[in-house]
Amino acid sequence: MVISTQVLFLSFLALTCSIGLASDPSPLQDFCVADPNNPVKLNGIVCKDPKLVEAKDFFRSGLHVPGDTNNSAGSQITPASIVQIPGLNTLGISLARLDFAPNSIVTPHTHPRATEILTLLEGTLLVGFVTSNPENRLITKTLNKGDVFVFPIGLIHFHQNIAHRPAVAIVAFSSQNPGIVTIENSVFGSKPDIPTNILAKAFQTNPAIIANIQSKFLR
Ligand SMILES: *[C@@H]1O[C@H](CO)[C@@H](O)[C@H](O)[C@H]1NC(C)=O
Repeated sequence: MVISTQVLFLSFLALTCSIGLASDPSPLQDFCVADPNNPVKLNGIVCKDPKLVEAKDFFRSGLHVPGDTNNSAGSQITPASIVQIPGLNTLGISLARLDFAPNSIVTPHTHPRATEILTLLEGTLLVGFVTSNPENRLITKTLNKGDVFVFPIGLIHFHQNIAHRPAVAIVAFSSQNPGIVTIENSVFGSKPDIPTNILAKAFQTNPAIIANIQSKFLR
């Protein structure tokens, strides 16, 4: 009886650990610089011949240049992920520069494959994330220059520039390709629409209100 309880407990532990450690797999060689032109499809990108690898495969310049925030979102992401730096392939890490126009908002979104760690270089941001079911607790913080904040993998989070001046942050990710799921785009702007009656049920409102929101997303 005691042994079977232990076995059960260990199986449970193994299961939760394998979920908890789900992230980019560790590299099995020094590097595997991405060869984006290779037609082979696998989980990641095929390595280029190591003899042909050069310093520029591990490099990008220009992160000192402010991103253009003159757009409807009022923010700009300047990535340094595997597309810009093929040498990141298999290394489980990437980063980006984020520029925020005064009073702009990066709406609620999640990175399905990465924890995010943000360093605020200039400005003042209100940031937050929501824990999963059943608590759904909102954890928020006002950040000033030099502050660092972490958004755990998969959780929905947002950034708001609460000052009347631009803000700049560097965000790093625990994936070569963190991905972005923007909540309003996924829920109301999918192609084709999620059936209106399903969203009406989810948001406890009538289908006409849902249809109105869905109609605002250009498709
Ligand atoms: C912002 O974008 C709009 C539309 O593209 C353009 O008309 C305007 O001149 C831009 N403003 C600045 C400051 O660049």
